[in-house]
Amino acid sequence: MLPPPPPEADIEISDIRKLTDLIRQKYGYEFKDYAMSSFKRRIRRVLDLYKYKTVDKLVSVLDSNPDFFEEFISEITVNVTEMFRDPTFWKVLREQVVPNILLNHDKINIWHAGCSSGEEVVSMNIMLHEMGVLDKARLFATDLDNAIIERAKRSTYSAKNMDLNRKNYHRYSGQPETNLDSYFKEVGNEVVFDKALLQNVTYRRHDLVLGNVFSKFDLVLCRNVMIYFNQTLQNGVLSRLHESLFKYGYLAIGSKESLIWCEIANKFIVVNNEEKIYKKIKD
Ligand SMILES: C[S@@+](CC[C@H](N)C(=O)[O-])C[C@H]1O[C@@H](n2cnc3c(N)ncnc32)[C@H](O)[C@@H]1O
Repeated sequence: MLPPPPPEADIEISDIRKLTDLIRQKYGYEFKDYAMSSFKRRIRRVLDLYKYKTVDKLVSVLDSNPDFFEEFISEITVNVTEMFRDPTFWKVLREQVVPNILLNHDKINIWHAGCSSGEEVVSMNIMLHEMGVLDKARLFATDLDNAIIERAKRSTYSAKNMDLNRKNYHRYSGQPETNLDSYFKEVGNEVVFDKALLQNVTYRRHDLVLGNVFSKFDLVLCRNVMIYFNQTLQNGVLSRLHESLFKYGYLAIGSKESLIWCEIANKFIVVNNEEKIYKKIKD
């Protein structure tokens, strides 16, 4: 029997500091307030993937090879997503949130902050189309990772992921799973969503940590993004999301995230606690 492999040396806080300092100074991205345990796991993953023995090696490659940086960003961020993720959340959007916004406005402006490969955006437009209000909507889809934004723009997905997407769609809409197929064409092992469905979407790189407030929205979805941030960063980001909402606009965060501990909690009321949907009530 082979002896067990030597245990991996733990990544020290000082290593993380060296890495985040280099990234800030050279590339203008700030990772120092990402949640430490998940950030360390992602760094470990990068070391294993590229067979770098130490964080120092990673720092020196990032320092000398700017082309590697985009690849590094894609590896360090967690891009896992699904269509109609948490189907009960989408039911509340359809039955309560969107009708309420359209009661008082003839247009609806939506921001998908941390949109990853765009499945959330496709879901939103399918929902709005089936509600008959797609022509009233304007969507902004942003992410830190340039490569994932390019993928979102293509709205092309692996056919093997569609089983889960179809199941979520059925659980959300009650319609047969195969009704989702009317929105895309299969091309080899991929499915390509109808571009006409996504005409109202602007895709752009935007950093929630260092980026500016760039517009005002009726609805902001920032789901499963802040889970990777520490409390200090969550407070900062939430205050910018608050600023990006019109008064009485809605904020949706991920099912494992919460506003409760955040500094701006008193400026929102809970619309749906299970689905983590909040409404801005104070500027
Ligand atoms: C797990 S995905 C969530 C996708 C989608 N919102 C969902 O719930 O299915 C998290 C996304 O947040 C993005 N992200 C991480 N840090 C960010 C930052 N500072 N600014 C903007 N997006 C960021 C990642 O690139 C990733 O695509």
